[in-house]
Amino acid sequence: MSHVSIRQLLKNFDGKPPTVAVDHLDLEIEDGEFLVLLGPSGCGKTTTLRCLAGLEQPASGSITLGDQVVYDGARGVNLPPDKRFIGMVFQSYALWPHMTVRKNIAYPLKSRKLTDALASGRVEETAALVDCERLLDRLPAELSGGQQQRVALARGLVSHPDLVLFDEPLSNLDARLRDQVRAELHDLHQRKPFTAVFVTHDQSEALALGTRMAIMRAGRIVQIGPPREVFEEPVDEYVAGFTGMSNRLPCEYVDGRWYALGTEIHGTQPGTVAAGEFVLRLRPEKIRLVTDVADLLPGEAGVAVTVDDVEYGGLHFDVMCSVVGDGAVRRQLHARIPTFDSARTPRTVNRGATMIFAFDPRDARTFDTDGNALAVPQQALTGALVG
Ligand SMILES: Nc1ncnc2c1ncn2[C@@H]1O[C@H](COP(=O)(O)OP(=O)(O)OP(=O)(O)O)[C@@H](O)[C@H]1O
Ligand SMILES: [Mg+2]
Repeated sequence: MSHVSIRQLLKNFDGKPPTVAVDHLDLEIEDGEFLVLLGPSGCGKTTTLRCLAGLEQPASGSITLGDQVVYDGARGVNLPPDKRFIGMVFQSYALWPHMTVRKNIAYPLKSRKLTDALASGRVEETAALVDCERLLDRLPAELSGGQQQRVALARGLVSHPDLVLFDEPLSNLDARLRDQVRAELHDLHQRKPFTAVFVTHDQSEALALGTRMAIMRAGRIVQIGPPREVFEEPVDEYVAGFTGMSNRLPCEYVDGRWYALGTEIHGTQPGTVAAGEFVLRLRPEKIRLVTDVADLLPGEAGVAVTVDDVEYGGLHFDVMCSVVGDGAVRRQLHARIPTFDSARTPRTVNRGATMIFAFDPRDARTFDTDGNALAVPQQALTGALVG
């Protein structure tokens, strides 16, 4: 039985203009599953969590937690937040200002009368988990933003609730602490699986933590699956763009040759699609820049580009380029080249240089002009070898 079951959930806000924040959303979450919700600002992530927690009253639909119906629009059921055994770590981590960190973290245990957990040092143990054990006697006003966020994290986890809702809980932490808390959270979930819905903007967080990952758009889920599946086989261009395939090349087949914006694609042809037009999506990390078509590796494809800018990024260079099409269309393409990889390093790349933007067609994903993934088996992409 799934632990969380959301059916046809609708939540709209009046206001100017009126907004459909959650649009007939269906979602099943298994017991012990760590579900990550990813999507752009305003797509309804926080509203979905608030509906689950009982902080927002939906217009219709139903929500079941375990064997308990907590909301059912048709039957007029709507349990208040304190009747749902849910831990919450929200974007605005409102700690009780008059309570010490210790009392803040202990609060869910006290309000649920979990006296055994209180007596057995659960508060200290949970504080240590998020590196806060030395802050227990301070007040929230005496903490930095990141420290407050970690205390909120401890407060959400301390009672070992059936379901924990996280709304960007790591966004205020510095990079080192963020990695550390993420690893602790992953380890904690591996050791003692709890059901979680975790909202983030950070793709690496989503990939690392998610049992499954759901991509949202305008109040609906566009794709849901194991992180690897969503990352490698996006169903449409929206998901592709959202999971890092930021390079977009509209392509066309004319008289037996493939063109990207009017410029010929050399080497292996990147698609055996029936339609004359399609769109290629490519990850910046999968690009090589070479000086000449003759430098393409067997099986590689490449298109001539102009280098617009080069940024040094420590372990990599970010090279921004553009294909000069038949018109004056210039399109920004991005190649992320490892600094220490001599086969890919652009030591001689300068602004204004013309280079070949090279890729293995197996790394590309193809979409029709409406943005839907083309059901072309990846092997077929390397099929026709021309010139
Ligand atoms: N109380 C409210 N009154 C009116 N509109 C609201 C209210 N809360 C949210 N909205 C609108 O509902 C939509 C979804 O908001 P929500 O906060 O769920 O987005 P989100 O996906 O969490 O975004 P972000 O990533 O920026 O936190 C937005 O268009 C927002 O403006
Ligand atoms: Mg939000």
